[in-house]
Amino acid sequence: MRKKVSLLIASMVLAACAGSARAQDTIAGTIATDQPAAVISRNIQGQFAEHLGRGIYDGIWVGPDSPIPNTRGIRKDVVAALRAVQVPVVRWPGGCFADIYNWRDGIGPRAGRPVRKNDWWGGMETNAFGTHEFFDFAEQIDAQTYVAINMATATPGVMREWMDYITSRGDDTLANERRANGHAAPFQLNFVGIGNEAWGCGGAQTPEYFANEYRRFATFFHKNGATFHMHNDNTALRVASGPNNDDTHWMEVVLKNAGPMMDAISLHYYTVFHGDWTQRNSAAALNFPPEQWNEILYQAWRMDDVLRAHETVMDAVDPARRIGLFVDEWGTWYAPEPGTEPGHLYQQNTLRDALVAAETFNIFHAHAARVRMANIAQAVNVLQAMLLTDGANMARTPTYYAFALYRPFQDATVLPIHVNAPQLAADGGHFPAFTASAARGTDGKIYVAVANADKDHGYRLAFDLGHARPARATGQILTAEKMDAHNTPGLPEQIAPRAFHGATIAGNRLDIAIPAKSVVVLSLD
Ligand code: AHR
Repeated sequence: MRKKVSLLIASMVLAACAGSARAQDTIAGTIATDQPAAVISRNIQGQFAEHLGRGIYDGIWVGPDSPIPNTRGIRKDVVAALRAVQVPVVRWPGGCFADIYNWRDGIGPRAGRPVRKNDWWGGMETNAFGTHEFFDFAEQIDAQTYVAINMATATPGVMREWMDYITSRGDDTLANERRANGHAAPFQLNFVGIGNEAWGCGGAQTPEYFANEYRRFATFFHKNGATFHMHNDNTALRVASGPNNDDTHWMEVVLKNAGPMMDAISLHYYTVFHGDWTQRNSAAALNFPPEQWNEILYQAWRMDDVLRAHETVMDAVDPARRIGLFVDEWGTWYAPEPGTEPGHLYQQNTLRDALVAAETFNIFHAHAARVRMANIAQAVNVLQAMLLTDGANMARTPTYYAFALYRPFQDATVLPIHVNAPQLAADGGHFPAFTASAARGTDGKIYVAVANADKDHGYRLAFDLGHARPARATGQILTAEKMDAHNTPGLPEQIAPRAFHGATIAGNRLDIAIPAKSVVVLSLD
């Protein structure tokens, strides 16, 4: 399976070397509709919400007394928008914030909760949004929960007590404290991150040191069903803090030393200018020069190489593929919007970001056998956000709409797609003009997605569908005239999906005329 994936991606790249195809040419491809491959976990459309800037406060939490419509303090507009794209899982409370977080600060009567400095991102942490509020939010959007514990400035004992507070069904003091605080039943805890960026803000650890620390924490995690822990109520999967970018050494050392004690390992990969985080402020989200279109799409494309490098290591240590790879932070990271607090990482979001999201989904689909969760950074008001808020107003970003288009790929089964894309040049290298993926949805329909990152040219694609002979192709397109088309809270939308009329079916042939800089998702039935 891994080989097939490499071939698929390689075919796009190799063809590009020879490629001179342009709008007038038709590029032939195939979709192996009778060769179902890996299932695309719905969790790759996951979200990340950190106590950072206006990510939680304003973005999600306004408090029960706010004039902004809310349910128990949580914004109704944000909940409705996230429910509409069926967010599968949400990660909280960080990020770097997780390692300065004391869960006890965020329980009990709100008026009595301590106010702490948020030393990573600036501002004051009121702790108004804590454990109960997070699980309420997850329940309101109908998502699974992914909690990152404090591994750097707390102890395994602190983690263990939080886990018991959340999950215990017993008559123990922690469970009774939760009940006294208003929640009789245990909360639904699905995933727990042990460590966040342990190589950086999580303690600047070496992989050897981290692997040892991870083993210590995992021992007291008391996962139900794990050795010696048959009687605990904590059934969450354990996620080890994984590498940054292409650091395969971290991956190898941690897997070899602690692999048996984890269910998944994380990876963080951000799309930044020149692939260099220290240059992140050299690229703006809006009004960028045309050459920065390709630069960012190229950096996003590098995700494919990064995944392949880690999968090689993982396949050697874990050939049965028991351990999942969770890309639990990804997305674009630009200079903060002028006039905003730099530490709050507030950036606008354009058609280019939608292309990044769609290109990244196509990559994830090709790696579905190992990549079983991904969490875009972040859900609201931070980095490549799904939603932006300003007072009572909220905007759905182009990234949000890319997620909306790709929703049918949740839990769909990959159908191998082969198509040769021309290559485009960027500063650091080349990347395919368009990427594509196909899958059979849980509703039985075939879904085909094409992300055309070529800002100057459209393409005509002709796919052989094998034995499949669908009656029709219908779908939606996300595009705009301007490269930086974006939506602003309180103003009419500049960009939103529209019905797409550029696809036809004749027998087992699917023709798509995809315009420049656009995302198209089709349903064949
Ligand atoms: O998403 C913003 C920050 O990026 C997170 O807190 C951290 O984990 C990463 O460096």
